[in-house]
Amino acid sequence: SHIPVITIDGPTASGKGTVAHKVADHLGFHLLDSGALYRLTALQAIRRDTSLTDEHALAKLAEHLNISFTGEAVFLSHENVTDAIRQEEVGNTASKIAAFPSVRQALYGLQLGFRKTPGLVADGRDMGTVIFPGAQLKVFLTASVEARAERRYKQLIAKGFSANMEDLLMDLKARDDRDTNRAIAPLVPAEGAHVLDTSRMAVDEAVAQVLQWYAAAA
Ligand code: C5P
Repeated sequence: SHIPVITIDGPTASGKGTVAHKVADHLGFHLLDSGALYRLTALQAIRRDTSLTDEHALAKLAEHLNISFTGEAVFLSHENVTDAIRQEEVGNTASKIAAFPSVRQALYGLQLGFRKTPGLVADGRDMGTVIFPGAQLKVFLTASVEARAERRYKQLIAKGFSANMEDLLMDLKARDDRDTNRAIAPLVPAEGAHVLDTSRMAVDEAVAQVLQWYAAAA
């Protein structure tokens, strides 16, 4: 397709969500937060008490998600679940069900549909490797696990959730491990991806770097 796509992949709490958002705003592009789709599926599974080993049932949930996005808000069957899907339990469940090929397959077409004019910024784990391999610009954002745990801690506290640094570090490592070592769509930099380590970088510096790469690629 001729509609430009910028993919931003990376581990949990690497800052890719914030960076993707700002880059999309700056360019007037659409935004795909692909992690939200896995989180929505996870939330639905938790609520319906679906077994987290029942791949078929989980794929059905993913396939029939009734979701909509309005600005920064996410709706599941018309309920605003923007905050609910950010909980650690939902993120952890998302990373478990994301290992199932049929769950990923069920969300594939939905993700392609986000590519609309004038362009798309897509963030996740496999945006550049699997979903949009022909993207104009591919970025892989990383940061040390400590820097990421600290950011996640601040985010959770700011949202009024309780958080514990040691638990967060453990959860992040477990999730990194699952996302990196799974057989399907593992978290790896796409071929040709620009790697950006944001451990000691302000958000706006990262945004400026991505925009500069995009200007050079376009
Ligand atoms: O990015 P976020 O933390 O919201 O994603 C939640 C989980 O969903 C990740 O830990 C990962 O396992 C899964 N995910 C994925 N592929 C994507 C986006 C997210 O497997 N493109």
